[in-house]
Amino acid sequence: AEPLRIGIAGLGTVGASLVRLLARNADALQARCGRSLVVTAVSARDRARDRGVDLSGFEWFDDPVALARAQGVDCVVELMGGSDGPAKAVVEAALETGRPVVTANKALLAHHGAALAALAERNGATIGFEAAVAGGIPIVKALRETLAGNAVHRISGILNGTCNYILSRMELEGLGFDEVLADAQRLGYAEADPTFDVGGFDTAHKLAILTSLAFGTQIDAEAIHVEGISAITPLDLKMADDLGYRIKLLGVAERTATGIEQRVHPTMTPKTWPIAQVMGVTNAVNVMADPVGELTLVGPGAGGDATASSVLADLVDVARGVALHPFGQPVASLEKAERAPMQRH
Ligand code: NAP
Ligand code: HSE
Repeated sequence: AEPLRIGIAGLGTVGASLVRLLARNADALQARCGRSLVVTAVSARDRARDRGVDLSGFEWFDDPVALARAQGVDCVVELMGGSDGPAKAVVEAALETGRPVVTANKALLAHHGAALAALAERNGATIGFEAAVAGGIPIVKALRETLAGNAVHRISGILNGTCNYILSRMELEGLGFDEVLADAQRLGYAEADPTFDVGGFDTAHKLAILTSLAFGTQIDAEAIHVEGISAITPLDLKMADDLGYRIKLLGVAERTATGIEQRVHPTMTPKTWPIAQVMGVTNAVNVMADPVGELTLVGPGAGGDATASSVLADLVDVARGVALHPFGQPVASLEKAERAPMQRH
């Protein structure tokens, strides 16, 4: 079979991991897909930067939109970030030419997911975004495929690795907020602008995507009540600890009698609850649904390799010819959900 020719726009934390893993796992991927997955083109801003991976066999594009339209590219992986600007232009260019897109960009999907999914449908293309929510945890596939026969009542969890890493190390090691945030940035967990992490906006972007998948509703990021962790102090964590609680940044989406309630905020969780025991960069997603009941997926929420693992899952789907609607059903059939006012919890 013909190889799948991949163009990667963005060679930072996730992009560089992806290049390395595609080379390292080439034989296994070929065996599983029945064809090889080969990188043919790459794009980033700084051509001279050493990224710790061999880029010599790939065509370099200074303009990522030109990469998205290049003859030698069958599938475009967008790993640049940002909800507008070049990342959006790259994804649109690929979809307009009928090329499947794989992206880890939750900000882009939270703000433009419906329009991009419609563009994909019009052009017979697909958008894979397993990597956009909870890093290495396969929650997008779980909702779109494995749980497709369920009615979800509630989906919640720790959706930002950087915040959980900060809260964990502040509590366990007594370190200051800024010091731990700097470590999260050095380890490649944080967004290019970490305000998205600590302000709760990244969790909100992921929650908006999960809500759409879980409830079959249009993405409505504006409906989410958002509070981050910037104001949490070591004293808050100590007082919570004395009372038998841990503070976790949770995202929660729930179907209520008046509509869908979506909220992101620091939450006092009893230390005996499994979610309170999720520490470090780990994420956890809890789903309550009928008929399956309750289940929780736990795993690495950020970092180059964990995120690239999810990108690889989508690339395998593309190589195998799996063509699902981005949000599990046609965009036109997604309901516009009533926004429920936030309850006291
Ligand atoms: P990053 O390290 O900041 O890398 C971004 C890459 O995009 C860089 O290689 C950069 O080029 C390139 N880029 C930015 N603007 C560009 C432009 N105008 N033209 C060409 N290239 C451009 O980001 P990352 O952490 O890999 O994240 C990438 C995406 O994955 C984001 O959407 C992020 O939210 C998402 N994500 C990240 C993680 C994680 O753990 N890091 C997890 C899940 C999802 P230079 O290198 O030359 O500057
Ligand atoms: N900055 C994000 C986080 C990356 O810390 O969770 C994974 O989406």
